[in-house]
Amino acid sequence: METPAHQSDHYFTDEERAAVYKCIYSRRDVRGQFKPDPVPDEVLARIIKAAHHAPSVGFMQPWNFLLIQSPHTKKKIHDIFLRANEQAADMFEPEQSAIYQKLKLEGIIESPINLVITCDRDRAGPVVLGRTHDKSMDLFSSVCAVQNLWLAARAEGVGVGWVSIFNKKELKQALKLPKSVTPVAYLCIGYVEHFYTEPELKSAGWRERLPVEDLLCFDEWGNMNRDGNEGLYKALSENID
Ligand SMILES: Cc1cc2nc3c(=O)[nH]c(=O)nc-3n(C[C@H](O)[C@H](O)[C@H](O)COP(=O)(O)O)c2cc1C
Repeated sequence: METPAHQSDHYFTDEERAAVYKCIYSRRDVRGQFKPDPVPDEVLARIIKAAHHAPSVGFMQPWNFLLIQSPHTKKKIHDIFLRANEQAADMFEPEQSAIYQKLKLEGIIESPINLVITCDRDRAGPVVLGRTHDKSMDLFSSVCAVQNLWLAARAEGVGVGWVSIFNKKELKQALKLPKSVTPVAYLCIGYVEHFYTEPELKSAGWRERLPVEDLLCFDEWGNMNRDGNEGLYKALSENID
């Protein structure tokens, strides 16, 4: 029997494929270039729906989307950030701490929208398909939602910055999250002046991107013997887009 046309249509065109990679490689964590322009409801709805279509363990869909727009709440959260950030700066050696303190690591106040993606650890009852032996799979599912949102936002020309420098207990209290709900990602969202071409931490000399070919091992941890996989190794190291 012939395959129906709509079923054979599972390849992207070259242009579509290029757009996906463009989105992946040009996505940035945005902290400092937010514009105040409002993000239209349709755009925000599209990126939230993209998050909602993420994979999730046992189709648990453990996420919620907590939208924060009020300056009062933002200020409360920003204060929590400032306290945690001061503590964080003290954890590095003096030289690194000096660089750390110059980094801009959030855009809570300037970005028009803050969005918290959470994980309700009780969303699907005590026994969840696929989560029977590793309870953290629900958290990983919410992280997949974050990444979907981040990429969809990039495709819309909208910047996203992930802020994780918080005392979790203070954050939960400020947002009135119930006990079973974990804040997974605090995101600052808005249109931007520009997207950098490189991670800001790379440009600031904090860390380099690791060569991906050095991260590859075979059959068991630490086995770097690439006999039979020279082609893959070469393709990875040639940096072909
Ligand atoms: C789980 C997670 C937490 C992060 N927390 C912060 C943060 O608190 N502040 C910040 O400026 N960037 C944060 N980032 C962004 C990273 O610094 C950024 O992704 C990395 O430097 C690579 O840059 P790029 O996203 O622009 O490629 C976080 C990213 C992830 C995935």
